[in-house]
Amino acid sequence: MSERIAVFASGGGTNLQALIDHFAESDAAEVALVISDRAEARALQRAREAGIPTHHIPVQTRPIAAVTADTIDALDAARVNLVALAGYLRLLPPDVVRRFSHRILNIHPALLPSFGGKGMYGKRVHEAVLEAGCRITGATVHFVNERYDEGRVVAQWPVPVLDDDTPDSLAHRVLRVEHVLYPTAVEWLARVLGAAEGDQDAATVVQAAMPLPAGDDVCFCLNEGGEPDRRGIRRIFGLT
Ligand code: GRF
Repeated sequence: MSERIAVFASGGGTNLQALIDHFAESDAAEVALVISDRAEARALQRAREAGIPTHHIPVQTRPIAAVTADTIDALDAARVNLVALAGYLRLLPPDVVRRFSHRILNIHPALLPSFGGKGMYGKRVHEAVLEAGCRITGATVHFVNERYDEGRVVAQWPVPVLDDDTPDSLAHRVLRVEHVLYPTAVEWLARVLGAAEGDQDAATVVQAAMPLPAGDDVCFCLNEGGEPDRRGIRRIFGLT
């Protein structure tokens, strides 16, 4: 069965776009729904342009029970079985996290557990990385729990920090990696869960299929064309 993905996004949605483009060409899953807490998010517009159903679920100032009910109703109505957070600035309600245990991923533009947590999003992350004098940053994909930027790490991809970097230039370099890493990670999870037998629980299945640590034979660098090494990223996920 092809998995059905809901993407949650609050902002521009370039990672959403990478997911839409990737799964337009893949039989592993489809982006079935895009949810945002912001009615005017560019991400919702991207989804509409791609013909994907959208849902605006306001969060601020609403009781958690109402947000939970709206979210579960929307996910169930679209028969979603996998969730990808892509620049979603809210915490998912705990009941949603429990219900989709081992079925929710997030991407963060730094090497967690550094430079994560509440308030660490967007430019602030890259400002903090530069402020600390880091020579390496990167992107992290992790399972989602009830706290910001926690949950088991699935994969990380390092990105060099250059002497003349600004928060914007660094964000740009990290985003290029995110756009390759995240669709690959979501495809990995879709294939792993899609291949599971009905009586196997997601935790066991995922545990048995965790991506390999990158070895000497996997190049973290950009390739000769200056692009993230797509083949290297797919290899650590065991995808051909
Ligand atoms: C990305 O850097 C992602 O890692 C973080 O939020 C940003 C979203 O960017 N979680 P975009 O909306 O996908 O362009």
